[in-house]
Amino acid sequence: MPLPKAELHLHIEGTLEPELAFALAARNGVTLPYADTGELRRAYSFSDLQSFLDLYYALMAVLRTEDDFADLADAYLTRAAAQGVRHAEIFFDPQAHTARGVEIATVIEGLSRALERSEERHGISTRLIMCFLRDESAESALVTFEAARPHLHRIAGVGLDSAEVGNPPAKFREVYQLAAAAGLHRVAHAGEEGPAAYVREALDVLGVERIDHGLRSLEDAELVERLAHEQIPLTLCPLSNVRLRCIDALTDHPLRRMLDAGLLVTVNSDDPAYFGGYVEDNFTAVRDALGLDDETLRLLAANSFRAAFLDEPRRQQLLAEVAAYDFAG
Ligand code: ADE
Ligand code: ZN
Repeated sequence: MPLPKAELHLHIEGTLEPELAFALAARNGVTLPYADTGELRRAYSFSDLQSFLDLYYALMAVLRTEDDFADLADAYLTRAAAQGVRHAEIFFDPQAHTARGVEIATVIEGLSRALERSEERHGISTRLIMCFLRDESAESALVTFEAARPHLHRIAGVGLDSAEVGNPPAKFREVYQLAAAAGLHRVAHAGEEGPAAYVREALDVLGVERIDHGLRSLEDAELVERLAHEQIPLTLCPLSNVRLRCIDALTDHPLRRMLDAGLLVTVNSDDPAYFGGYVEDNFTAVRDALGLDDETLRLLAANSFRAAFLDEPRRQQLLAEVAAYDFAG
């Protein structure tokens, strides 16, 4: 059994495997511009974030009904359980669906159906985090938030994703204020392709509790000191960083330097269907590339539960599972 861990940076739409994409396409009468799963997989070669996002949004055309969203989430949870995931905080992109004429209620109710039975079926507790697309307008984010209001009991927090450069966090000040007033947690992608200044802005203007990626924080020594002092969690996604060419090779990944700087870093999978691995695959890949020992892996797993939006009894229970984990067993 793999090391118990929480997954905190996972886009549910990024778990759409080619086989499920074709099955849903057939179920919904959607024609994909690829002959088969092999041809689709060969398209998974990206030069940057935008080249990935183009395919990621295009493939969502197969997601239409509550059943589709429930099946997508259940397929992810099945894979995650086999990778040692005991708690998952799952992002979704409502605007990518409402823009295609799929109601936000369909998305949230479908995902929630799979999430509600996850503890019983997979032993995984879950949270749902609604992301705003930062390359859409601030008004569109506000309209999305209001459309989600009747469903907020199903949503633990808000996030910010999609094309980063040129779309600074401050653009979304108002909708994050509404989210805070509604008692929701707040996170944001920052410092993936964008500058360290976006990490600062996400903290100062949006009041986020975690930074998704935060890779480029290292370019600002003062920021690193602050992240370490305040123990702001960073949700790193190593295989994603290589596939989207944020770094050249996994051996260049700054994860170890970040740990040495006292940062609270976690390892996650981002869009595992596209980037060559789920969360345990990310753990194994960084272990091999950076020569991490067992106790460092245990620290990364413990960090994932420290950084999670969990109630204290479950956090302590899961931290105890990590402490007791036998790598030889
Ligand atoms: N949406 C899905 N994956 C993403 C990523 N890695 N960065 C920004 N937006 C995303
Ligand atoms: Zn992401």
